[in-house]
Amino acid sequence: MIHVLKDVVNPINWIKILKDPSKFIKVFNDRINYYPGLQFGYTKSKIIKKLYMSFNVFFAKKNKHFKEFFFNTENNKTEISTNFNFNGMHDINEIQFQSLKHNGILVLENALTEHEKNKITKNFNKFKDDLSNNKIDEYKHMNLKIIKGQNLRSSYTINSDLDSESNLKKISDQITKKIYGQIIRPSLTYGHNKLTNLPDSPVPGDNTWHSDRYIPNLKLLYFPLGTPEGSPFRYSLGTHKINKEYLNFFLNKTELGNGTIETDADKKKFLKNTQEFNVPPNTLIAVLSNGFHGRTPFKTKGERCVLYLMYSQFRLSSLISYWKYNRSYKLNS
Ligand SMILES: [Fe+2]
Repeated sequence: MIHVLKDVVNPINWIKILKDPSKFIKVFNDRINYYPGLQFGYTKSKIIKKLYMSFNVFFAKKNKHFKEFFFNTENNKTEISTNFNFNGMHDINEIQFQSLKHNGILVLENALTEHEKNKITKNFNKFKDDLSNNKIDEYKHMNLKIIKGQNLRSSYTINSDLDSESNLKKISDQITKKIYGQIIRPSLTYGHNKLTNLPDSPVPGDNTWHSDRYIPNLKLLYFPLGTPEGSPFRYSLGTHKINKEYLNFFLNKTELGNGTIETDADKKKFLKNTQEFNVPPNTLIAVLSNGFHGRTPFKTKGERCVLYLMYSQFRLSSLISYWKYNRSYKLNS
């Protein structure tokens, strides 16, 4: 919070705003109006952290869609399967949404058309070739990230609209409408992992058990090639449900930005029903990523390609203006 105040009183920033007002909107959205994460306004004070959390959870509960998916804990005795063959379908049915609601994850095999799968695969192949030939200029305005090590991690992000006829858009639209209450436009991140040397050392927020946020969160992961070389996605079923025990986990964390499970006591509490999703090519995983998840470490040398759909367009202001998102609730349920 102090860094924000320093920026506000700095006259140089005001001159920059007057010169380019559109920049102000971007800075405002990035610095103040972002969907709350695990930084808690960069404070370690437990009291302020608790205030932050109570404020955000209060508004999250006001969204009826969030309430149904993340806060309602009616006891479901029967197990609901997580994996479905989507095979050329367009509509996600109620049973499939039930998996998202109760398990926190939905796996759709044969999710996209052959044409879409090939296009995404081609983009990955081009990215890999360009990286190995050091032809990275065209990715520089696409939030290119390259983290070198024995596990080479690289990604770039596209913010343009999805093709209106694509299955990927149809799936994304249906899921966001159900979870948030409105269609949210995704950003598309092409993520590539290459393990050149074993072991696959722990990387927080990647191959360790972690949560992305303590409030409702959705991500779609598309695997054009599946996970034939290992490192499947893993999830602790049902841990997307937000209750007192869950919130205390984040409140008691001392390191900011860290949602990783570290102690044996927390492992016992939150990793009761874990599942690995070793998927065939053309599989899409929808995951409520405030639940505990991660990439399973590679057991042999290999590569992994995942297209991530993320919804940062749903911001703090969207959380607070919950009534706009509740309008569609009765129609949906
Ligand atoms: Fe994550």
